[in-house]
Amino acid sequence: MASCTICLPALMMLVLDLNTVESVWPLPQKLAISEERYPLSPTHFNFYYGEDQASIMKDCSLLDSAFTRYFPLIFPDLTSGNGVLPSTEEKAFSLVVTMHQKDCDGYPNEGSSERYQLNVSAGQAVLNSDTVWGALRGLETFSQLVQQEEDGTYFINKTEIEDFPSFQYRGILLDTSRHFLPLKAILNTLDAMAYSKFNVFHWHIVDDPSFPYQSRTFPDLSSKGAYHPMSHIYTQSDVRRVLTHARLRGIRVIPEFDSPGHTQSWGKGQPNLLTPCYKGSSPSGTFGPINPASALSYIFMSQFLKEVTSVFPDPYFHLGGDEVNFSCWQSNPDVRAFMQKMGFGKDYTKLESFYMENIVNITSNLNKTSIVWQDVFDYHERIPKDTILHIWKGLPAQYKAETSRMTKAGHRVLLGAPWYINHIAYGQDWRISYNVQPLNFSGTEEQKKLVIGGEVSMWGEYVDATNLSPRLWPRACAAAERLWSDESQTRSAEAAFPRLQAFRCSLLRRGVRAEPLSPGHCSDEYRGI
Ligand SMILES: *[C@@H]1O[C@H](CO)[C@@H](O)[C@H](O)[C@H]1NC(C)=O
Ligand SMILES: *[C@@H]1O[C@H](CO)[C@@H](O)[C@H](O)[C@H]1NC(C)=O
Ligand SMILES: *[C@@H]1O[C@H](CO)[C@@H](O)[C@H](O)[C@H]1NC(C)=O
Ligand SMILES: *[C@@H]1O[C@H](CO)[C@@H](O)[C@H](O)[C@H]1NC(C)=O
Ligand SMILES: *[C@@H]1O[C@H](CO)[C@@H](O)[C@H](O)[C@H]1NC(C)=O
Ligand SMILES: *[C@@H]1O[C@H](CO)[C@@H](O)[C@H](O)[C@H]1NC(C)=O
Repeated sequence: MASCTICLPALMMLVLDLNTVESVWPLPQKLAISEERYPLSPTHFNFYYGEDQASIMKDCSLLDSAFTRYFPLIFPDLTSGNGVLPSTEEKAFSLVVTMHQKDCDGYPNEGSSERYQLNVSAGQAVLNSDTVWGALRGLETFSQLVQQEEDGTYFINKTEIEDFPSFQYRGILLDTSRHFLPLKAILNTLDAMAYSKFNVFHWHIVDDPSFPYQSRTFPDLSSKGAYHPMSHIYTQSDVRRVLTHARLRGIRVIPEFDSPGHTQSWGKGQPNLLTPCYKGSSPSGTFGPINPASALSYIFMSQFLKEVTSVFPDPYFHLGGDEVNFSCWQSNPDVRAFMQKMGFGKDYTKLESFYMENIVNITSNLNKTSIVWQDVFDYHERIPKDTILHIWKGLPAQYKAETSRMTKAGHRVLLGAPWYINHIAYGQDWRISYNVQPLNFSGTEEQKKLVIGGEVSMWGEYVDATNLSPRLWPRACAAAERLWSDESQTRSAEAAFPRLQAFRCSLLRRGVRAEPLSPGHCSDEYRGI
């Protein structure tokens, strides 16, 4: 090995500073890199399935397509045409993948193990995992360990890694209602998510401004409610492309069909769904949230949810339930009469709870676990225990207290509040995201186990395909590491900074328009390709 200057004995692994620049993002749970290193060459490199598993695993098309995808990520110059010619002296290197479960044909879900072990030694890297999802995470890590010298040659250091996520749910929300995001922008986001090991795409697909989802059962919803009935919609085949692209990267797709508020666009294609608002004793011509006093609303929602829960395979389904404005309900005489009949008095939170309880019941009859925004819990503590609550409001003191209350009530919790990164600020605001401590709230160990993870939100008021990537990357990477890595090893944003800068340069090299973190330069700058 001509490439190593100070060679250590092969077995002596040195645990170096974990934040050396040539390192992995998010940081693996256990990582030991030695100074011994081996050259790699694209013409002498192969992926193999572990021999003992060969008979079962040879036909894992999901992993085969990951091999195809990762080859140019491991050897990036092949695509830009700057590759160096291999010398005949170069030795073969193989990456041998062994998985212990056969799960190549399904979708990832909340129970999927992402654990893997990766050992790199002379001539070979051994990647072991329980599932194909763990193998994908290990491949990503392997691709980040490969370095390139200025002369174009590739090498990898001797390494031992044992890795698994701290949190099972690591999500990104995209909002395709306030601005339509072309399919390509969504697929590119999924690619970048896989690079930092995010595993859930929360698709906030419809909202007040537009309804781009093309329903099979109710096609008028998009033909009348989308910004444009042909160009600004997601057809069934578009949705399938997103599901497939995500699955190949080990990413779950959880759609959100938010109701009863945030539904103005639904009203355009579905008459008699929204509440007519009144001015005095006559209708004003405007509409409020879905009408909770009409049986037709529940019939429609049952049919609609039956469709969409069958289109999206994930066992979780996001039902929204946030920010319901009661003023229209209060103005409507039919709604007031219904309040009377139900004995709700003047408490409209009871009416909202009644609506949400019906919708959660419909959804659980369709065999899905509901996720709802925190408002539903705040108004109504009697929701089914298996409903997951999504926290979006407040500063640390408030969201910590909320996490404490929800987990005390036995609910699983998803933390969104600290990661609304559609809000931007001058300077390095990723550090605020990095310093979040999801488990630092008052509660028992049992309560802490109920925090299933967190989510970065990229709301779309001021975001479309022009600025989605630079606003999301690399800022979302801070939450990616917080949710994947061991907190005790990743407390310092200062220490993480050079590694994040290096990772941002890799994102550029992979074609992600990730914005700069500080003055400086990358060896491969973004060239507008
Ligand atoms: C990899 O090996 C090289 C050469 O021996 C060494 O300079 C470098 O510090 C090592 N990288 C890491 C992350 O330890
Ligand atoms: C990696 O190396 C460690 C330490 O030598 C060993 O315990 C582990 O089983 C190895 N893992 C794999 C996948 O080879
Ligand atoms: C309900 O969902 C669970 C978990 O996704 C699945 O294992 C089960 O087969 C489903 N049952 C029915 C009746 O679809
Ligand atoms: C609720 O809607 C009414 C009528 O559109 C509006 O005047 C009011 O400001 C809204 N309230 C809130 C809290 O948004
Ligand atoms: C929802 O389901 C639960 C359990 O089956 C039931 O007790 C409750 O009355 C239902 N709620 C509504 C609003 O239908
Ligand atoms: C947890 O948060 C509190 C503030 O809410 C802070 O004072 C404390 O230092 C944090 N704990 C740790 C271990 O950082």
